[in-house]
Amino acid sequence: RTVHLKDYAPYPFLLHDVFLTFELHPENTRVESRLQFEHSTKDRDSIDLYGEALELVSVSLNGKALAAEEGYVIVKDSKVVGDVLRIKHLPPQTFTLEIVTKISPATNTTCEGLYQSSGNFCTQCEAEGFRRMTFFPDRPDVMSKYTTRIVADKSTNPVLLSNGNLIAQEELGDGKHSATWQDPFPKPSYLFALVAGKLVALEDAFTTCSGKKVDLKIWTTDKNKDKVGWAMESLKRAMKWDEDRWGREYDLNIFNIVVVDDFNMGAMENKSLNVFNSRLVLATPETATDSDYIHIQGVIGHEYFHNWTGNRVTCRDWFQLSLKEGLTVFRDQEFTSDLNSRLVKRIEDVQFLRQNQYPEDAGAMAHPVRPPSYEAIDNFYSCTVYEKGAEIIRMYETLLGKEGFRKGLDLYFERHDGQAVTCDDFYRAMMDANGYDGRNLFLWYQQAGTPTVELSSQYDEDKKTLTVRMEQQLPATADTSEEKQPMLIPVALGLLDSSGKEMALGRMSEDGAEAVDLGGVTTTVIRLMRKQQTFVFEGIPSRPVLSILRGFSAPVKIRSDRTEQDLMLLLSYDSDAYNRWDSAQTLAKEEILKAWRAGAGKAELRAEFIDAFRKVVADKNADKHFISQVLSFPSVSELLEEVGSTDPTAVFAARNAVEKSLAEALEREMLEVFTSNRSSEAYKVDNEGIGRRALMLTALRFLSSLNKPEHNERALKAFKEANNMTEQVGALRCLCKNDNELSRKALEDFYQQWKHDDLVLCQWLRIQAQMETPNNLDKVRRLLDHEAFDLKNPNKIYSLILAFSRTYTNFHAIDGSGYSFITDCILKLDKSNPQVASACTECFTSLRMYDDVRQQLLTAQLQRLAKEENLSGNVSEIVHKCLKSG
Ligand code: ARG
Ligand code: ZN
Repeated sequence: RTVHLKDYAPYPFLLHDVFLTFELHPENTRVESRLQFEHSTKDRDSIDLYGEALELVSVSLNGKALAAEEGYVIVKDSKVVGDVLRIKHLPPQTFTLEIVTKISPATNTTCEGLYQSSGNFCTQCEAEGFRRMTFFPDRPDVMSKYTTRIVADKSTNPVLLSNGNLIAQEELGDGKHSATWQDPFPKPSYLFALVAGKLVALEDAFTTCSGKKVDLKIWTTDKNKDKVGWAMESLKRAMKWDEDRWGREYDLNIFNIVVVDDFNMGAMENKSLNVFNSRLVLATPETATDSDYIHIQGVIGHEYFHNWTGNRVTCRDWFQLSLKEGLTVFRDQEFTSDLNSRLVKRIEDVQFLRQNQYPEDAGAMAHPVRPPSYEAIDNFYSCTVYEKGAEIIRMYETLLGKEGFRKGLDLYFERHDGQAVTCDDFYRAMMDANGYDGRNLFLWYQQAGTPTVELSSQYDEDKKTLTVRMEQQLPATADTSEEKQPMLIPVALGLLDSSGKEMALGRMSEDGAEAVDLGGVTTTVIRLMRKQQTFVFEGIPSRPVLSILRGFSAPVKIRSDRTEQDLMLLLSYDSDAYNRWDSAQTLAKEEILKAWRAGAGKAELRAEFIDAFRKVVADKNADKHFISQVLSFPSVSELLEEVGSTDPTAVFAARNAVEKSLAEALEREMLEVFTSNRSSEAYKVDNEGIGRRALMLTALRFLSSLNKPEHNERALKAFKEANNMTEQVGALRCLCKNDNELSRKALEDFYQQWKHDDLVLCQWLRIQAQMETPNNLDKVRRLLDHEAFDLKNPNKIYSLILAFSRTYTNFHAIDGSGYSFITDCILKLDKSNPQVASACTECFTSLRMYDDVRQQLLTAQLQRLAKEENLSGNVSEIVHKCLKSG
């Protein structure tokens, strides 16, 4: 079952109004829907509605009950998930359909459609979950006004919520009550939501820029109500920020957030009724880490920002997913940057992209930001669509400038408010608003693969000119055999003189570059748009060192002829923090690859390398969080991409060896950093505190790699004395680098302290799943049976099973035990929750990165999966693409 973008056809009907009645019951919910249709072009004889896992009770057309076969049939359509209900003999112009279905939320383990979590009812409709409640034109280009009546037992479901405004409430007999909600904004079905259960709300209010008061409520179970303060604060700041930065005001008088424990993804932007995974809302200093806090703020922002980028302007079809996700990720990145540390956030985002999206682009599931086809749309809620999509949006901004970008976005809203549109529409708004010719920029949506830009430079002493030659290479990717076209790549360039001072770029003799101001220094954005281009800069007084791709101006890899000395100069002096960090990344990468080639258990570091890092560690003026980022080496997945098909455990070992050797060389400095950044101050989420804790824990991580008793004692002390989760779990992680008495005891103490808190237990499971000590698979197996684990809860599955699949020593064990373990888990999970199962199948997609033996072992497991009858579409798409990728 493959769906193609080129087969898109507009839906031939308009669905103006939708009236839904849910009579809630755990195993026997009755859903009645009344749909008011109009033929949109020529009158058709029949209409198709989609449904999945439904019991159909009755269908009527204009008030007349229809008989099966004569009035309607259930058919299969290879392009549609589930069943198609085809209603025949339609009258012309307008008609009303009434459909009654029965569903069983309590036994729905997919976390899609209507299901129960901790006894409460909730929904997840994106992308195609609405059809699990009733037969419906469940596609995003059908936008309708919804009125929803919920009927439920009052004692078990005192709270009844849906989208929009509450317009009626009734007390019914038999201990039942009802609530009716109406959403005045037309929306696609994927933005529908319903929640019912025993919930309490933290209430607050926000007054918008035009003076409208919006009631804000965050709903949780009673035991969690003290943990939503940070989320509420974040929501108010998001609402204010969207007004200040983009002129976007909220459009209703009510905004609800509901917290649920069982949720496949992070959160969902349903109109005025966001639903959140509890891990992205609940926070106290004792239970959440700094990164949780920042992440919560970002995702609260993300879902809120969807109200404009996603809800008011939505996607025509699911191929356009990045239209809303790439743009909204860009917006949440900016939100986080404005509220916290811009430089830290940018580096984090680049790290994430390289560690997750680059491998995706190089693996079996490679796809363009706008995929031309898919089998299971759930598999495309990917780093490519989200994070690479956000980088495309950032390139628009880099090319058009901040003001030009804002003009483009304003025009986009002006043109398309209330519509379901495409990535082309966004592109056109950006270009039209600026009179810009962005030829070849759109190719970023259409071509998979991470481009490499090869850059060499020549300085002419006599003529005082700098010649920069660039060439772009677009790799072959698993999704297509088509030839790739050169793309428009904005390369932000700056120059440093030999003392590290910023140099003016001078006049450039080829057009395609323009000066823009990136953070206070003059940086030139070069537009590389052909396969190969040469740029000549005049009036350069001395040989410069090139600061390339400042701010990470495009999601590419850079190969340059810069020397190690150049990189060290950049690391010390570049005004662009990203480039300072990236220079360190390149230096570390070289050192690790050298150790890998040498194959020894111990890395012999060069003195220059040690000195460069010593300077960073000892730098008293640098941002502490930034220093800790410089000290985090490229991930194994990035390193594997450099060397291709090889033993991942050997690369992992080389990386560890370099860390350990650096720790040995800088033990005194690391100890001093660790000690001077310990503090018993009250916990505060601010840049200073976050930076201090990050650096302190990074130093401790290096020290722990030495596995010396005195450092292990230090970690234990930090663990015991921690007054916040960041330090407690950070120190525990350090202890768990080694499997010994101390770490076992600490894990046990941690469990006893937190066994009542499922989110903290996820940390506990994750740390153990990720231990790189030998035979850790046995521990993971035992944890599957531990009371802390729950095979129905996505967070627990991700923390134990998915986390294990991202380790080296044990997942990639040469006896294949890790691979067959994951396969067993996938087979089990696929029966209850295909989305979660397919997330766990992702570990197969990089198989071509590994050595032959491992490729064979992985292939054998993939074949085992492929043989399984009734494999979900989600898992089978990945399995078949992996098998094909060889
Ligand atoms: N739109 C949600 C977001 O904010 C993600 C929902 C994805 N759900 C899914 N079943 N694929 O990013
Ligand atoms: Zn989103």
